[in-house]
Amino acid sequence: MMRLDRFLCETGQGTRSEVKQLIRKGFVTVNGLQETAADRKLEEEADVVAVRGEVCLFQKFHYYLLHKPAGVITATRDQSQQTVVDLLAGEKVRNLFPVGRLDKDAEGLLLITDDGELAHKLLSPKKHVDKTYFVRTKLPLCQQDAKCLEAGVDIGDETLTLPARVEQIADNEIKLIIQEGRFHQVKRMLEAVGNEVIYLKRLSMGPLALPKDLEKGSFRPLNREELLKLRQENLL
Ligand code: URA
Repeated sequence: MMRLDRFLCETGQGTRSEVKQLIRKGFVTVNGLQETAADRKLEEEADVVAVRGEVCLFQKFHYYLLHKPAGVITATRDQSQQTVVDLLAGEKVRNLFPVGRLDKDAEGLLLITDDGELAHKLLSPKKHVDKTYFVRTKLPLCQQDAKCLEAGVDIGDETLTLPARVEQIADNEIKLIIQEGRFHQVKRMLEAVGNEVIYLKRLSMGPLALPKDLEKGSFRPLNREELLKLRQENLL
């Protein structure tokens, strides 16, 4: 059960005081009947709430795609540095966190959510979810290096990296597809073959791809198609 005013906040109708005004002014109906009590208790997945006749869909969890820019840290909160969750501050959704790390100097797709189960499924190496990175390297990458990266390399951990895929784009540019997310993994993989990453961007994670029209620093909620794809892959 949930209070009407909280339900309206959680479905994005405004701040607590804004939604209280909507209720007071008689713009809100519950199951077709005008409701003026902000503390009215609701069965959030059964009662039909509408504002000015528009039904408010209750979403248990929230999902956003962020185009992370360089210079922002992948954390929820920090005393001195801007975080990826700060970029969504206007959303008024609580408990948001980023799914998987991108280094401060890395860019690209970052899923921000309050759904811990989805995060676990996307990140667990056992689930074999592909993460695709665009990598620009300091030195040209030869075929031998690409083969090593694909087979698994020693990055100083207990085990070699799991098999990966390399798609050569140019002498110094590759797409690297991995299914793990170890600390600084891509950078350490390139170091393991005597090279260095000079630019790193995540292009996709499982069925989610960085939208071409999503500017650096911008975000948007996952759309229906993206939610459907996650569902089809048993991730949601
Ligand atoms: N691998 C890295 O080295 N850095 C990232 O940000 C992501 C993957």
